[in-house]
Amino acid sequence: MKNNKRIEICEIGPRDGFQSVSDYIPLQTKLSVIEKIMEAGVSSVQITSFVSPKAIPQMKDAEEVAKFCLQSYPEADFSALVPNLFGANKAAETGLRKISYVVSLSESHNRANIKRSHEESFEELRKIFDGLPQMEIILDLATAFGCPFEGKKMAEQVVAFLRPYVDLGIKTVNLCDTIGVANPAQVRKTIAALNASYPDLALQIHIHDTRNMGMVNTLAAIESGIETAQSTLGGLGGCPFAPGASGNLATEDLVHMLCEMGFDTGIDEKMIIEAAKYESERIDGIYSGHLYRIESTV
Ligand code: COA
Ligand code: ZN
Repeated sequence: MKNNKRIEICEIGPRDGFQSVSDYIPLQTKLSVIEKIMEAGVSSVQITSFVSPKAIPQMKDAEEVAKFCLQSYPEADFSALVPNLFGANKAAETGLRKISYVVSLSESHNRANIKRSHEESFEELRKIFDGLPQMEIILDLATAFGCPFEGKKMAEQVVAFLRPYVDLGIKTVNLCDTIGVANPAQVRKTIAALNASYPDLALQIHIHDTRNMGMVNTLAAIESGIETAQSTLGGLGGCPFAPGASGNLATEDLVHMLCEMGFDTGIDEKMIIEAAKYESERIDGIYSGHLYRIESTV
């Protein structure tokens, strides 16, 4: 089956996956996993986050990771997550030209994660726009479909929340189902509402597989026209201290489905499965992927 449509898979395992692992992953192990990801043909990778090492000690080597990646793969589309201007400046100093700035639709989640009110997060973003005019900034909208403290979120809330961000100059929004509570109807409705209100806004999707909805929700987003989907190698993620929490949809499983459906991802299915196996043998974490566990694929 061929439909030849290009879907960009943005691999975010080195950030969302690695941050869930409580023991520090040696730098060389991180870099070798990134090498496997690149060898499989992935062109877009979120390689790390520039966050407080007190908040996420795993990311204390962000600078080294970024420098290695930029030197080794100068043509690749690399980005890093940042929560504030401090992190954005650090990312820029390494030579990164793209960042994901995270804010939660739910204010209580924003306070828990970033220790800021909505207003403070918005003002911080304005400072990043002013301070780093050349930087490409993606808005990572966490808890876009629901929040552990505030419950389900409606499409109208997403549309209203984004107005000042779009007016500020945000051109791409990544809809993050942080706790895996979305369903395909909700995904479709949210995307349709955003398309109607902001026809020029590019959207991406980021689904946690907590309720086994990673694949259907990501497919619903793709069928709604989204061209960039995020996922993590092996489905590594979740939190060792939150039973049942889960990582993102597994990259290799997503690649498999899209290849079977005739989409063009640019990623070698066999090699990305191998990469997930490689990672699972070296990094002790919670994996939700399916394909890397089976010996042969048909
Ligand atoms: N990178 C590295 N260090 C940072 C930093 C960054 N982006 N931002 C702040 N820091 C440092 C400060 O220099 C300060 O260091 P000091 O104690 O040695 O002086 C310390 O962290 C506290 O700074 P402050 O601005 O008061 O931050 P905070 O304690 O209010 O925490 C955040 C706010 C946003 C920095 C922190 O909560 C964070 O990094 N959160 C990220 C959470 C995350 O990654 N979640 C998962 C991904 S969505
Ligand atoms: Zn996530």
